[in-house]
Amino acid sequence: MKRALITGSSSGIGFAYAKLLSQKGWHLDLISQNQERSQNALDELAYTNCNTHICDLSSAESLMNVINDIPLPDLIVANAGIGITGSVGKNNRDHITDASYLMFGGVIELIEYYLPQMKIRNSGRVVIISSIGALIPMPKSSIYAAVKSGVYAYGRSLNSELKGNNVSVTVSLPGYVKTNIHKRAGLEHLTKKIPNWMWVSAEKVVKETESASIKGSSKIIPGLLYRFTSIFFDLWITQYVWKIMNGRK
Ligand SMILES: NC(=O)c1ccc[n+]([C@@H]2O[C@H](COP(=O)([O-])OP(=O)(O)OC[C@H]3O[C@@H](n4cnc5c(N)ncnc54)[C@H](OP(=O)(O)O)[C@@H]3O)[C@@H](O)[C@H]2O)c1
Repeated sequence: MKRALITGSSSGIGFAYAKLLSQKGWHLDLISQNQERSQNALDELAYTNCNTHICDLSSAESLMNVINDIPLPDLIVANAGIGITGSVGKNNRDHITDASYLMFGGVIELIEYYLPQMKIRNSGRVVIISSIGALIPMPKSSIYAAVKSGVYAYGRSLNSELKGNNVSVTVSLPGYVKTNIHKRAGLEHLTKKIPNWMWVSAEKVVKETESASIKGSSKIIPGLLYRFTSIFFDLWITQYVWKIMNGRK
C-alpha cells in the first residue's frame, strides 16, 4: 500500500490532496498544528487509513520529533504554509523566523530527512507547494515571495540532481486559491477584490500537481490562465497589471 506524508492537511490545498489520495486508497500521515481543525478535517475526510500528527512545523524540534515517528513515505507533500504580508520593516523578527522555517528551512529539513532513503530504495516522489509569487514580484509580500522562491530553487535543482534515481521532486506554483490562508493572514478583502476568473480551486491545483508529479516534471503552474501569463511575467506591463489586480499598487 502506498504511503503519503502531507503537511498542512487540515484545510485548503493539503486537505484536497488528502482527499484525492484517500480516494485512491493510500495510507496517509497527516500533519497540522491545531487539534480542533485537524479533527474537523478528519471527520470531513471520513477515512480511517490514516494517522494524524499535531505539530508546529515552524519549530525544528517539533518537526524532528514528528518525522522520527513516520516511516519512509512514497510521496511527500510539503504544503503547510501561512500568508506573511506587510511592507518592509513591518514584520517582527520572530514572525519572519517562524514563517521562514515553516515554508523554507523546515521544508528542506523534511525532504533531506527522507530523500536519501528514497534514493537508496530507488523510488519516491516529492511535491513542494510554492507559489506564483516565486516568479513575479509581490510588493508588500516580499518575505513570502522570498521563501517560496527558495523552495522553488531547491526543488527544481533536486529534481535535476535525481534524474536516473526514479525519484522526482515537483514544485507547484499556484496563483490565487480560495482557502483559509487569506483570512488567517488578515487579507480577507482579497477574496472580494480579486476577480473570480483569477481563482483556481484547490482541487484543480491538486489534480494538476499530482499529474505533473507522476510524470516527474520539475514544476507545474496550475491553471491555464497562470500557465499562459507566466510567459510574460518578466515584462513591466504584466507586473504593473498584476500589481493593480492585487491591490498592491
Ligand atoms: N491559497 C492560495 O492562494 C495559495 C497560493 C499559492 C500558494 N499557496 C500555498 O499553499 C500552501 C497551503 O496553503 P492553503 O492556501 O491551503 O492555506 P490553508 O487553508 O490556510 O492551509 C494551511 C495549512 O497549513 C497548516 N499550517 C500552518 N501553519 C502551520 C504550522 N506552524 N505547523 C503545522 N501546520 C501549519 C495549517 O494547519 P492548522 O489548521 O493546524 O493551522 C493548514 O493545514 C501554503 O504553503 C501556501 O503558501 C496558497
